[in-house]
Amino acid sequence: MKIVFKIWRQVNSKSQGGFETYEVDGLTEDMSFLEALDYLNERLVQRNEKVIAYEYDCREGICGQCGVFINGRAHGPHDNITTCQLHMRSFKDGETVVVEPWRAAAFPVIKDLVVDRSAFDRIIEQGGYISARTGTAAEANAILVGKEVVDRAMDAAACIGCGACVATCKNASAALFTAAKINHLNSLPQGKPEASNRVLEMTRQMELEGFGSCTFTGACEVECPEEIPMINIAEMNARRVKAKWLGK
Ligand code: FES
Repeated sequence: MKIVFKIWRQVNSKSQGGFETYEVDGLTEDMSFLEALDYLNERLVQRNEKVIAYEYDCREGICGQCGVFINGRAHGPHDNITTCQLHMRSFKDGETVVVEPWRAAAFPVIKDLVVDRSAFDRIIEQGGYISARTGTAAEANAILVGKEVVDRAMDAAACIGCGACVATCKNASAALFTAAKINHLNSLPQGKPEASNRVLEMTRQMELEGFGSCTFTGACEVECPEEIPMINIAEMNARRVKAKWLGK
């Protein structure tokens, strides 16, 4: 099959980028989207042209590295998948496909389709962990946790930190990401000792990084490949108020 790719090219974070058009013939429907970009890059190498920079690691929807905007949607035309899980059969033969990096002030473009998502790492540094004594692992049933609590915590823990929530939000808000990370740990007994500090510090860092405020448009929930619901944001806000005014 043939695809006309319009791909954002940008030399570095200081330079002004722009779209380049590449007509690529010889793709197959079974190729993943990243394989199609690999195929294009091989052609560029043969022509002695600069390859397109894009990120990936697992290619299985686990690591969250591969996010790009495809035809105006985070991770492409389907709900609840990552870019690496998208296949070329999702496009028509001869279609023009526009590929752009995440757009957000807190995610500056490093090169082409690669953005700097270290703002997420700095939010995690402020409390996305628990402190536990080292030594022999505790007996698994020593702390019993109800199924409802476990389910809620594990649903939040599914966040892969891809950044689609930020990129798709008109405010470039990181509320869904931050809420998922806070609620995962604050719901569980292991996360309780640092719970109030965690919510205060992680939300403070989120604001320092320049992400916008959440206005509950729901776009993040729609594009999240892990289907993390925005109720998490309401829960985070409630936890924040409680921590700030009641100290717990
Ligand atoms: S490459 Fe890991 S989620 Fe896509």
